[in-house]
Amino acid sequence: MRLIEGTYGIAVLHADFPDRIVVARNGSPVVLGIGEKEMFVASDIAALVAHTRQIVTLDDGEMATLKADDFRTYTTEGTRTTAEPTTVEWEAASYDMGGHDTYMHKEIHEQAEAVDRVLRGRIDDRFSTVHLGGLNLDAREARRIRRVKILGCGTSYHAGMIGAQMIEELARIPADAEPASEFRYRNAVVDPDTLYIAVSQSGETYDVLAAVQELKRKGARVLGVVNVVGSAIAREADGGIYVHAGPEVCVVSTKCFTNTTVAFALLALHLGRTRDLSVRDGRRIIEGLRRLPGQIAEIMEQEEEIKKLALEYAEARSMLFIGRVRGYPVAREASLKLKEVSYIHAEAYPASELKHGPLALIEPALPTVAIVPDDDLLEKNRAAMEEIKARSGRIVAVAHREQEKADHTVVVPKNEDELDPILLGIPLQLLAYHTALALGRDIDKPRNLAKSVTVE
Ligand code: AGP
Repeated sequence: MRLIEGTYGIAVLHADFPDRIVVARNGSPVVLGIGEKEMFVASDIAALVAHTRQIVTLDDGEMATLKADDFRTYTTEGTRTTAEPTTVEWEAASYDMGGHDTYMHKEIHEQAEAVDRVLRGRIDDRFSTVHLGGLNLDAREARRIRRVKILGCGTSYHAGMIGAQMIEELARIPADAEPASEFRYRNAVVDPDTLYIAVSQSGETYDVLAAVQELKRKGARVLGVVNVVGSAIAREADGGIYVHAGPEVCVVSTKCFTNTTVAFALLALHLGRTRDLSVRDGRRIIEGLRRLPGQIAEIMEQEEEIKKLALEYAEARSMLFIGRVRGYPVAREASLKLKEVSYIHAEAYPASELKHGPLALIEPALPTVAIVPDDDLLEKNRAAMEEIKARSGRIVAVAHREQEKADHTVVVPKNEDELDPILLGIPLQLLAYHTALALGRDIDKPRNLAKSVTVE
C-alpha cells in the first residue's frame, strides 16, 4: 500500500491465503459487512443490507483483513486501528421498488413520508424552535457565527443554494452556496467566524470530502448535511444533520434533495431562534413545515396533468428554466433534473437576466419553464413572461395560481414564502421523469452518470 498513489478502494485475494480478503480505502468508499461466520465487503451499504446490517466503514488511509469469523483494521502504515460496527437504520425492504416501475418514480412518491421523517422528533413547540442533536453547536457558538458557506455538488449544491437563502431570511446571517469542486481548488480564505456546511446525499462525493478535509486542515468548523449515516463526510464533519430520506437508489436525486432543503429550513429556524427570529415567526415556520407532507401529497395528485405536459414538450431540443431569488435555485435544480434523466439540453437563468442576452434565444422551439411564486416578485416574474410571450415563446409556469401569460400553469400549494422553494420544484421532478419515460431513457441509471462520484 505504501507504493500506491492516488485515490482507491480495493479488495485483494491471494491464492495462498484463500481464507481472507485484504481491503484498503483512500478516497473511494469501502464498507465491511459483519455477518454470522461470514464477512462482506462492498463500496456501498446498499449491497450489504440484504445480508447484514452491522457495518464498518473504513476511513481514508485505512485497510482491513477479513476472515469468515473475524476482521482487523489497520492504517496503511500497519498500525492497528479500532473499528466499532454500526447498525444500518435502513431495512433491506426499503431497497425494494415497492410496486413502482423505477426507483425514481418510487422516490418521488416517497417524499411526503420522507419529509415526515426529517421533521420527526425535532420540533420544539415550547420555544418555537427545533432540536438538532448532532449539530454539536451550542447557542453561544451559534451566535458567534458571522457567515455561512455551504458546499456541495450537483443537486446537493442546489439544495445548498436554497438553504443559504433560508438562513439569510430566517437567521439574518450572510450565507451563500458554492460548488465544492470550485471551492477546493481556489485556495479560499478560510474564516474562523464562518460556519462551513458540506451537503451530500451519499456522504462520499470526493470533491466535497476533499473540501471538508482542506477546511479541517485550516481549522474551520464544518457541519455535514448528509443522508447516509456513517458516511465519510458525516464522520469527517464536526457535527451535522442527517436528512433521513431513506436509501436513494436512483442516480437522479429527488427525495433526498427535498429532505435536504427541509433540513436547511430546520437549521435556519434553529439559528434564527438563537438570534432575533420572533416566537411568532418561529411558530409560523413550524406550522409551514408541518403542512409540507400533505402539500407534497397534493402535488402528486397532479401527476397525470404533468405527464401530458411532458408528452407535449418531450420533442424540445432545449428548454429554459427561469426564476428569481427564491425561484432561481428551483430553476437550477429543475434544469439539472431534465438534463440528467431525459438528455434534453436545459439551462437555468435568473429571470432578471433575460434581457441581458438570453432573450435572443426565445422562439416557439425553445419552451420556458417559469417559477412564479406568489411573493413580492410576482409582478416582476409576470413581466418576464410577457417579454417571452411577445417573442412567441411557449411558457409552462409553476405557480400558486393560474398565470394568464403562460400556456400552461402547474399550480402548487402555497406555504410560507421562505419554505415555498421546497415545494415549487417537485412538479418538475415529475416533468423530468415523464419526459425521460416518453423518450425511452434509462431512468434509474442515466448514461455517463454514477450515483456517488467518488473520483475527481
Ligand atoms: C443528482 O441528481 C445528481 N445525480 C448529482 O448531481 C449529485 O447530486 C451529485 O453528484 C452530488 O452527490 P451527493 O449528494 O451524493 O454528494
